[in-house]
Amino acid sequence: MNEHEDHEITTGLPLMEKEDLQELADQILSQGFQKGKEIVLFEGKILDGRNRYRACKIAKVKPRFVKFEKGHLKENPWDFVWRENLSRFHANEGQRCAMRILLEEGTAKWLVQRQAEEEEAERKANEARSKYAKGRRRKKGGKFKKKASRSSTGTATGDRNPSRAARAKRAGVSPAIQAKMDVLKLNAPDLFEAVLQGKMTAARAYREWRKRERKRKLDEARQGAAKREQEKAQTQVVAWDLWLDCHSEQEIAERLGVGLDTVNVWIALEKSAPRTPPDSQQHFDVWNFGPSSGDAGDTDYFGHMPPQVVENLLWLFTEPGQIIFDPFAGGGTTYDVAKRMGRRVWTSDLAPTATFIHEHDILSGWPAAAPPEANLILLDPPYFIQARGRYCKHKSQMGDMAELSAFMEAWGRVVQVCREHLSTQGHLAFIISPTQMKDGTVIDHAFQMAQDCVKAKLVEVRRVIVTYNTQQATGQQVEWARAHRKLLKLYRDLIVWANE
Ligand SMILES: C[S@@+](CC[C@H](N)C(=O)[O-])C[C@H]1O[C@@H](n2cnc3c(N)ncnc32)[C@H](O)[C@@H]1O
Repeated sequence: MNEHEDHEITTGLPLMEKEDLQELADQILSQGFQKGKEIVLFEGKILDGRNRYRACKIAKVKPRFVKFEKGHLKENPWDFVWRENLSRFHANEGQRCAMRILLEEGTAKWLVQRQAEEEEAERKANEARSKYAKGRRRKKGGKFKKKASRSSTGTATGDRNPSRAARAKRAGVSPAIQAKMDVLKLNAPDLFEAVLQGKMTAARAYREWRKRERKRKLDEARQGAAKREQEKAQTQVVAWDLWLDCHSEQEIAERLGVGLDTVNVWIALEKSAPRTPPDSQQHFDVWNFGPSSGDAGDTDYFGHMPPQVVENLLWLFTEPGQIIFDPFAGGGTTYDVAKRMGRRVWTSDLAPTATFIHEHDILSGWPAAAPPEANLILLDPPYFIQARGRYCKHKSQMGDMAELSAFMEAWGRVVQVCREHLSTQGHLAFIISPTQMKDGTVIDHAFQMAQDCVKAKLVEVRRVIVTYNTQQATGQQVEWARAHRKLLKLYRDLIVWANE
């Protein structure tokens, strides 16, 4: 038996359920293929009798065919399909409308396809004609008129954009049902299908869709609100970050396009957030942290300070939102720790290693761009000649001052500059380790540097010993110390000062 496809016009029109189809197949098998029930072919495809054709295949009975063109010429194929389908169903309004919509859809697709085919045929014919005419012109010198394009589908479709009322009339339903079914076709294929199958009336399916729509819009609104909340929370985080970078509330409001009051509220909220002590919290005045926790600053930077030192200093001597100033920022340890502990921070160095570190020579005075006052000034200068040649080359590089007097003069200047910008209740802290000279003598820098602090009218608040770990010394050095009855250096002094 020749295979026949369903015609495009019928695409989407419902077919029988499996059981019904089997029943039809049994009937055909017992009664034979009935006369007058021929399968109608159009363009070699099945226009009517799709179920019968399928049932014949199941029953292995040879179906009979008739060509649409022969018996039904006065009718359009889609009108024929419509009439035949309706005659077999006791369709309610919704089903009728659904079927008509599907039929219109299938027909429209087929017409577009047919028009394209006709145009292609027309183009080929014109091409052939003009070739022929060229030949004739060469012979006779005559002229040939190109045949004008004429589309048969153009006349077949008639009114291409019928109104909803016209479509409803053709389907035999009210315009209101037509409107509902159009909406369902476009937005809720499952409900459209339910109407087509007769499982729901058009009105009920439409109500169901409206309910869904309301829920969807509500969900959308809720999601929108959640998104706006999220964006607000993100802006709040950025505002806090900028504030910790010492930008003013006004600057932040302008940069983020939010009100000054909002910025103030956000900052107040963040400032008052409960904070827990650092994991490294110390209770005695000898701090032994072992190796650096490595979670702040550039750990490879020569002279990188253990972040735990900064954590404990900030925990003991500052409050969230207070300003920390570090003019010997190096690898940026102070910056990272201060920000994660909710302190505002301004750092500089002769040679910044990161964009957040400002380039500044502290011997030239207090940086003009820095906040005028700081609550904690943390000084981690080069330890005299212990890092000679390790930092940038600069006339003010304190790591390259070979003479102790030059180093101390520079230090005196640093203390003077910083002292003038220390807030009334603020603290100044410096960290340094003694220098062990080659001959074994030791320069106790802390003792000497403290004198400049006293001269600057600062009072000592606390002296802490920050130990190095023993891996600091090589076996050879230990041997040398043993042999020469000397001590090896194993600590840094951290001295905290306040206003007199
Ligand atoms: C011991 S390191 C600081 C390390 C830093 N605390 C860290 O944890 O990474 C000393 C720094 O002081 C800088 N320095 C030296 N003289 C300076 C000066 N006159 N002005 C500013 N920075 C200076 C050096 O460039 C060096 O980066």
